[in-house]
Amino acid sequence: MHTLAVSALLVSLLLTVSCENCENPLNVEILVYDDVNGDIKNFTSEGVITVSEDVFQVLVANQTIKKLCQNYVIINNELTVLQLLNNSIEDISPSAFNISATLALFKISENPLNTIKKGVFNHVRTKELDLSYNNIAVIEADALENNTYLEIIKLNHNFIKEFDPNWFIKTPNVYKISAIYNEMTRIPAYAFVNMTKTRPLKIRLSANRIEEIDPLALEGAGVIDVLRVSGNRIRDIPGQLFVNKTIKSLQVDTNKLQCFPEQFFNSTLTELTFEENTSFDCACLIRVKNFVEDRNITVIYPSIICEDKAREVQIVFNKDKTFKIPLMKPSTL
Ligand SMILES: *[C@@H]1O[C@H](CO)[C@@H](O)[C@H](O)[C@H]1NC(C)=O
Ligand SMILES: *[C@@H]1O[C@H](CO)[C@@H](O)[C@H](O)[C@H]1NC(C)=O
Ligand SMILES: *[C@@H]1O[C@H](CO)[C@@H](O)[C@H](O)[C@H]1NC(C)=O
Ligand SMILES: *[C@@H]1O[C@H](CO)[C@@H](O)[C@H](O)[C@H]1NC(C)=O
Ligand SMILES: *[C@@H]1O[C@H](CO)[C@@H](O)[C@H](O)[C@H]1NC(C)=O
Ligand SMILES: *[C@@H]1O[C@H](CO)[C@@H](O)[C@H](O)[C@H]1NC(C)=O
Ligand SMILES: *[C@@H]1O[C@H](CO)[C@@H](O)[C@H](O)[C@H]1NC(C)=O
Ligand SMILES: *[C@@H]1O[C@H](CO)[C@@H](O)[C@H](O)[C@H]1NC(C)=O
Ligand SMILES: *[C@@H]1O[C@H](CO)[C@@H](O)[C@H](O)[C@H]1NC(C)=O
Ligand SMILES: *[C@@H]1O[C@H](CO)[C@@H](O)[C@H](O)[C@H]1NC(C)=O
Repeated sequence: MHTLAVSALLVSLLLTVSCENCENPLNVEILVYDDVNGDIKNFTSEGVITVSEDVFQVLVANQTIKKLCQNYVIINNELTVLQLLNNSIEDISPSAFNISATLALFKISENPLNTIKKGVFNHVRTKELDLSYNNIAVIEADALENNTYLEIIKLNHNFIKEFDPNWFIKTPNVYKISAIYNEMTRIPAYAFVNMTKTRPLKIRLSANRIEEIDPLALEGAGVIDVLRVSGNRIRDIPGQLFVNKTIKSLQVDTNKLQCFPEQFFNSTLTELTFEENTSFDCACLIRVKNFVEDRNITVIYPSIICEDKAREVQIVFNKDKTFKIPLMKPSTL
């Protein structure tokens, strides 16, 4: 009985250990580049990804890894770029990356990765984190917290439904977020308040499903160099976005706008990308035209037409010029 109980305990201990169910795959091919144009070395990892000398880049591509266990990547030497591309990665354990180097770029792409958990990237030193082209739907609110090295976050081509302002808590150097081709439906209040104040922000949220921009979305944010929200479903831009804010370049083409808010015409914009459908209000379009001309705003509208029925003209805006053409009258038989 006693022996049985001990065995049972041992078995349950072993089960607890294997409950983590994390075994590093063997025979993973690692490519190592010693400088930007240098030689490529090629070796096979027997469990942990590590390199024993200073190198420029470590690239792991087209392997089958599925799950990255704790301490799966251990780098104690200099390294500039780390890429894990197309490795069937579904899950990354907290503390999978044990890297003492400060990276310029850490890219994980083309993996069926769904969730970015707390504990994976908080302590990874990298200027740019590129998680584009995965299946990411969830980024835990504190997944990046305390990462003071991060400056650029790329999340393009994923399935992210919500923009979470908490991503930037205690990430004081992030100035660029790019999350095009996701499934976000709104930009919430105070979205960028915790991004850096030390340099102009670059925000790319084009090709989502954004219908609503909270009037307080830009409240508390620093100077905005570029705000790109092209290819969404925006009908109204709140006027508050332009009150006491600096947006240099605004890209709002391919939405459902009919006009800009009053405050837009008081803004200090220097560049506007704007191409709308024929529902755009014609009088408003003329105001936009005068506004951009008066302020010398660089404007990009490949071709935009509105019908001024009262005056029986079509107003056509082209890249560099604007002209009016008479409305085509239905031919009378
Ligand atoms: C890596 O080395 C193996 C064995 O030498 C070789 O078959 C393979 O083509 C190499 N891969 C690359 C990407 O160089
Ligand atoms: C991975 O596979 C793709 C497609 O087969 C190929 O183009 C690419 O060169 C491979 N990458 C490496 C590093 O072997
Ligand atoms: C991904 O890797 C697999 C091998 O694991 C390869 O067959 C496939 O072509 C790669 N896909 C791309 C897009 O590189
Ligand atoms: C990181 O790896 C080193 C070995 O290089 C080890 O001593 C250390 O405990 C690891 N850190 C963590 C948090 O596991
Ligand atoms: C961030 O740092 C604070 C203070 O050291 C700590 O309390 C908190 O748990 C850290 N957050 C994460 C996600 O590690
Ligand atoms: C985030 O921004 C708010 C509003 O400016 C500020 O009160 C708060 O201290 C910031 N939090 C961090 C962790 O930077
Ligand atoms: C804009 O800023 C000025 C000066 O800082 C301030 O007096 C004014 O109340 C602000 N207006 C709004 C609407 O926040
Ligand atoms: C054009 O804008 C109108 C007005 O907001 C909208 O109802 C319509 O769906 C838009 N058309 C396209 C193709 O987006
Ligand atoms: C635009 O600016 C002028 C002058 O600063 C001010 O009088 C006016 O109220 C502002 N209009 C709006 C809509 O903010
Ligand atoms: C706009 O630009 C033109 C040509 O670059 C220049 O002649 C004009 O003075 C500028 N106007 C303003 C208001 O800055």
